[in-house]
Amino acid sequence: MLFTPTRDDTIDRAAPAPVDPAFRADVLRGLGQPHKAIPARWFYDMRGSQLFEAITQVPEYYPTRTETALLHAHASEVAKRIGTDATVVEFGSGSSIKTRILLKAMPRATYVPIDICGEFLDEACEGLAALFPQLKIVPVEANFMNPVNLPVKRDEQAMLGFFPGSTIGNMTAAAAVDLLRSMRGTLGAGSHLLIGIDRVKDPARLVAAYDDAQGVTALFNLNLLQRINRELGGTIPVSEFRHVARWNESASRIEMHLEARRAIRFEVAGEAFHMEGGETIHTENCHKYRPGEMRLLLAAAGWSELEHWTDPQGDFSLVLAKAEDDRQTP
Ligand code: AVJ
Repeated sequence: MLFTPTRDDTIDRAAPAPVDPAFRADVLRGLGQPHKAIPARWFYDMRGSQLFEAITQVPEYYPTRTETALLHAHASEVAKRIGTDATVVEFGSGSSIKTRILLKAMPRATYVPIDICGEFLDEACEGLAALFPQLKIVPVEANFMNPVNLPVKRDEQAMLGFFPGSTIGNMTAAAAVDLLRSMRGTLGAGSHLLIGIDRVKDPARLVAAYDDAQGVTALFNLNLLQRINRELGGTIPVSEFRHVARWNESASRIEMHLEARRAIRFEVAGEAFHMEGGETIHTENCHKYRPGEMRLLLAAAGWSELEHWTDPQGDFSLVLAKAEDDRQTP
C-alpha cells in the first residue's frame, strides 16, 4: 500500500514558532560577544508588546501618562501651526492611543503609519478607521530606521512626522542623529517633526520607572529569554536570571540587563553558551536628555526646534521641530 499522508501526519505537533533569521543572527552574535547584548527591538513579540502596555500603567512609569497629557494640552496648537489637513507620518505605529489625540485635532489629516510588523500595522489601522471614518490611512510596512519612499505626494501637502514615546532614547546619540536625518529625508523639505523625549531627572525615580514594584518590567525583560527558548530552540534557565535596571551616569542612560544568579550553561539554536554568576546580558539603553542636549541632537540632524513643551515637573519633553532648508551658510 502506498503511504498517503493523512491530515494528522502533516500537522507539526511541536508547533514551533517560525524562525526569524534576523532574530537568530542578532541573538547568536550578541551572546557570542565578551559583553553579551541583544538589541531591544526583540522585546516586542505579542507577549512583549502586551507587557509593555502593562508597563505604561504602573505608577512608577511616568513617561506615557506625562506625554499623553502634553499631547492633550498641545495637539490643537500643533494642528494650528501645521494645518488640520496635514499628512501625519508615524514612525513605529504602536498602540496608537497617542496618535488618536493628535488626529482628533486634525480632522482632515492623512495618516501614514510605518511599522516593520504587518500584524501590528493592521491592528492599529483597524482601530483608527473605526474611530475616524473619514481619515485617509496609508499604511507602510517598512523598517523606519532606513529612509522610506512614502506613497504620498509630499510637495502637495504639509508633512508632519510623529515619533512619540521617547523611542529615540533607545539609540546612542550617533544612531539617533542618523535616524533623525533619515526621517528628514523621508518627510522632505519644509516638513515638521513632533517628537517625545524623556528628560534627565533624579536617578532614583528613573530606576524605579524601569524596576517597578509589581515586577512588570522584570517580566518584560525576562520575556526576551522565553522568546529565545520558544523561537530559537533555547535551553536558557530563565529562573536563574534576575532583572536589573541601573542608571549609567556618564552615558546619561538607564540600562536594563539580565543577570545570571550563578554560573550557567545553555544552548541556543544548537550553539553552546556559558555565563558566570553576576555576568549580564545587556538588553536595553534608555538615554535621557536635558533640553539643550535635545536641541543639539535635533540640530545635528537638520531639525530646528520651534516649540518645546514640558509638564510642570519637567519630566518629559514634547518638541515640535522644522526641517532646516539646505542653503548656503557662512
Ligand atoms: C518604548 C523604548 C520608550 O525606554 O522607556 C519601558 C521601553 N523598557 N520599560 C522606554 C521600556 C522598559 C520604553 N520605550
